[in-house]
Amino acid sequence: MASADQLKALLKSHIEGDQGRFFSVAMQVAAHEAKLGHGKLAEELRDMIDVAKSHNQTARLASNLIPINKPRGELSGLLTVSYPKSRLFDMILDDVVSEKLKRTIKEQRFFTKLHEHGLSPRRKLLLVGPPGTGKTMTASVLAGELGIPLFLVRLDSLITKFMGETAAKLRQVFDAVDSVRGIYFFDEFDAIGSQRGLANDVGEIRRVLNSFLQMIEQDQSNSVIIAATNHPEILDYALFRRFDDVIEYGLPNQEQIAALLKGRLVGFKPVRSLWQKASVQAEGLSYAEIARAADEAIKNAIIHEQKSITEADLIHTLAERKQMSARLTGNKENGRLTNYAGSSPTR
Ligand SMILES: Nc1ncnc2c1ncn2[C@@H]1O[C@H](COP(=O)(O)OP(=O)(O)OP(=O)(O)O)[C@@H](O)[C@H]1O
Ligand SMILES: [Mg+2]
Repeated sequence: MASADQLKALLKSHIEGDQGRFFSVAMQVAAHEAKLGHGKLAEELRDMIDVAKSHNQTARLASNLIPINKPRGELSGLLTVSYPKSRLFDMILDDVVSEKLKRTIKEQRFFTKLHEHGLSPRRKLLLVGPPGTGKTMTASVLAGELGIPLFLVRLDSLITKFMGETAAKLRQVFDAVDSVRGIYFFDEFDAIGSQRGLANDVGEIRRVLNSFLQMIEQDQSNSVIIAATNHPEILDYALFRRFDDVIEYGLPNQEQIAALLKGRLVGFKPVRSLWQKASVQAEGLSYAEIARAADEAIKNAIIHEQKSITEADLIHTLAERKQMSARLTGNKENGRLTNYAGSSPTR
């Protein structure tokens, strides 16, 4: 047990808001326990301190970000920042994706400790999969879980907006990656790959791609870089090996659909038999489309002052989504998404 003096010092530093002193006394307590032969407890305490310190550091960095929040200078138009509160349990994921994300979060939480041993936590992720399956949501969840800001970088608008100087702008983005720890999310990542064929900007896109490859390779920062695309097939192969992990997202199966609907309709007392029929009806739709259909059913219930969602209501809104999806994909038969790029769910 910690000595009376240590307990008093812990309490005093906490009350006075002296974080440095608090961590140093906490480390003394851990050392004291180790001396007493309580190795496991000592290790647990050190891990807790490590996590708390890293949270502290990122909170401090985040509070320095206000200028980026209202970008006026060089970063204007390149980055938008947010501070998401989403958590991993908000997402329905298959086991492989879930394990990969948990592993990233864990390694990130212990990044100081890993660095001390000359190791680097995984921090460059490529997310691939159809629209509405949780790629953007993943970036928010990682930011929420790690308590760090989320910076959104839209490569497509970067290229159109700064034609001719995109590579220089990209350099500024990577400077921010280096100086402010955060999740840097490059959405529509295929903008680099997909437009390479366009005659008018071949040179530009190639320059951007090469700069990106170089910058991501050289990057040694503490930030997490995430790129997302619906078109993995058109990405340059050279890109794949720059990432620590490639995570594949897919459309939900019946079990995942039921889990999504249950979460969404909680409080609207749906009848038990509803899940099975609705899950069959929703197959082929993305998470985003199903979430939208559930919200429509809730809105109908509220407007008509019903306390519960009926099976017919939900089946109807799901069928509407399916028709919409079928029109967009041109697949009238069952509304299934025929390829990653075929449909853009309404959100
Ligand atoms: N795996 C999931 N679990 C729970 N909800 C999800 C999941 N995927 C998507 N959603 C819901 O759908 C919405 C849109 O998802 P998101 O923006 O992450 O899709 P995306 O994969 O980034 O699509 P796009 O390729 O069009 O950018 C989310 O805000 C959430 O409400
Ligand atoms: Mg997205």
